[in-house]
Amino acid sequence: MSPTLRTALRPSKAALTLLSRHSTPTRAFSTAVSSRQAIPASSLNNNSDTATQSSSTSSDTSEVPPLRLSKEQRALLEEMIRVDQAGELGANWIYRGQYAVLGSDKKVGPLLQHMWDQEKHHLRVFDGIVSQYRVRPTALRPIWELAGFALGAGTALMGKEAAMACTEAVETVIGGHYNDQLRELLKIDHPDIAELRKVVQQFRDDELEHLETALEHDAQKAPQHELLSNAIKQGCKAAIWISSKV
Ligand SMILES: [Fe+2]
Ligand SMILES: [Fe+2]
Repeated sequence: MSPTLRTALRPSKAALTLLSRHSTPTRAFSTAVSSRQAIPASSLNNNSDTATQSSSTSSDTSEVPPLRLSKEQRALLEEMIRVDQAGELGANWIYRGQYAVLGSDKKVGPLLQHMWDQEKHHLRVFDGIVSQYRVRPTALRPIWELAGFALGAGTALMGKEAAMACTEAVETVIGGHYNDQLRELLKIDHPDIAELRKVVQQFRDDELEHLETALEHDAQKAPQHELLSNAIKQGCKAAIWISSKV
């Protein structure tokens, strides 16, 4: 396991706090997430015949009876996957924008690179899930790219603290968003959902690590911190809602 992944897998204080507040832990945080760990296509397929086939039990369905996701559950999962891919896309472009401005800074540059690398991994995983399971991706991809870059570069131009305040605000919303998803996923009693839950749980922890990093690097010393933070949080919430639908 790489040092980066080992760091990412370490549960943060913020993660533990949020988890104890909002959901019940299902697995140890040390579970590695690969890009192919995901719910199988059968779970999202509207064809009820194939939806009853669990890939994890396909070789021996006599031991574990196949479960069927309801239409509502499938719709919920598709929405989750679409919004998560869009969110990871936006996060990538935020860090791209910040790195374009502050990448050469000896203190902040490596931090941004590290967080950006993790966002690249997150996006690769959700790109795989979206294509593998034929979920309609957001139609607003160019908008999220442009908005993400503008937000990242714009806050970085305001200074290192503002860049970190941006990360603080974004990761607060995204961490909470993933936590909300975990609570929803915990309600679905299906063996395949456990894999998606691992992904969401892992990424939630990564985002909360980013939040901690931002706080440790003077995010709250940014000029007009409250104003900036609230504006970014509202923008993120709006983006989440829109990309879950469009
Ligand atoms: Fe992410
Ligand atoms: Fe993040």
